[in-house]
Amino acid sequence: MEKTQAQILRHHGGDADHARQMITQSYERRHDNEFWEFWNAQMGVTIAKGDCLLDLGAGIGQFVEDLALRYPDNTVMGIDAADYMLTAQLSLPENARMLKDDLNEPAAHIEEGKVATVMANMLVHELPQPINMFKAVYKWLKPGGRFCIIDLVRQPLADYLNHKFPDGELWNTDVPREEIEDVFEHFLEHNRYHAEDMIFMLESLGFKVIENTPQRGGRFVRLVVEK
Ligand SMILES: C[S@@+](CC[C@H](N)C(=O)[O-])C[C@H]1O[C@@H](n2cnc3c(N)ncnc32)[C@H](O)[C@@H]1O
Repeated sequence: MEKTQAQILRHHGGDADHARQMITQSYERRHDNEFWEFWNAQMGVTIAKGDCLLDLGAGIGQFVEDLALRYPDNTVMGIDAADYMLTAQLSLPENARMLKDDLNEPAAHIEEGKVATVMANMLVHELPQPINMFKAVYKWLKPGGRFCIIDLVRQPLADYLNHKFPDGELWNTDVPREEIEDVFEHFLEHNRYHAEDMIFMLESLGFKVIENTPQRGGRFVRLVVEK
């Protein structure tokens, strides 16, 4: 757990408060009407009364809270490893709770075959390897249960740099060396997988692909797979 916590903090530039602020601030924008229409059509359809709903890498529990309010007859659980997220946890409705666990090697006690939906939003690229988590998700899901991954995918360096430095700023101005090095380091961390790489791992475990939608100019993907 300590190793994972140190690795998460390193990924977030060593500044826990800033990392928490950035991701929590963008939550509303990323969970707009279009998102909930998607959720209802592709994920909500598999939820029956009493099923468990899971959010992996749940941060302070924003999505856990939203799901708990939308599905009062279901139990919602969020998992995270970072203390700086867990200690800032939202006060959640009675049907929701957060668990501390390392998704590099999940050990949380979640009853197998009872979970209807699993979300992993902006998580997979933070894991040194996602195989153990994908295996756990397969065990936790009920037959017909669905797993949604929203994450950054591989992109050409040109797209990454043009997004980080719009208007040719990198080439026309004196960007400090630390800033350039930070962007190049994050290019590697944000550029781990093609959508096809994730599909390869998921299909190898027995999942069936339901949706594979490029997002935000191809810098992100939204995948839905079914057990
Ligand atoms: C970029 S944030 C995304 C938060 C939330 N899913 C969202 O979309 O707003 C990634 C989260 O995954 C958590 N995380 C990263 N590696 C993890 C691991 N090995 N086990 C559990 N949580 C992890 C981080 O602590 C962080 O809260």
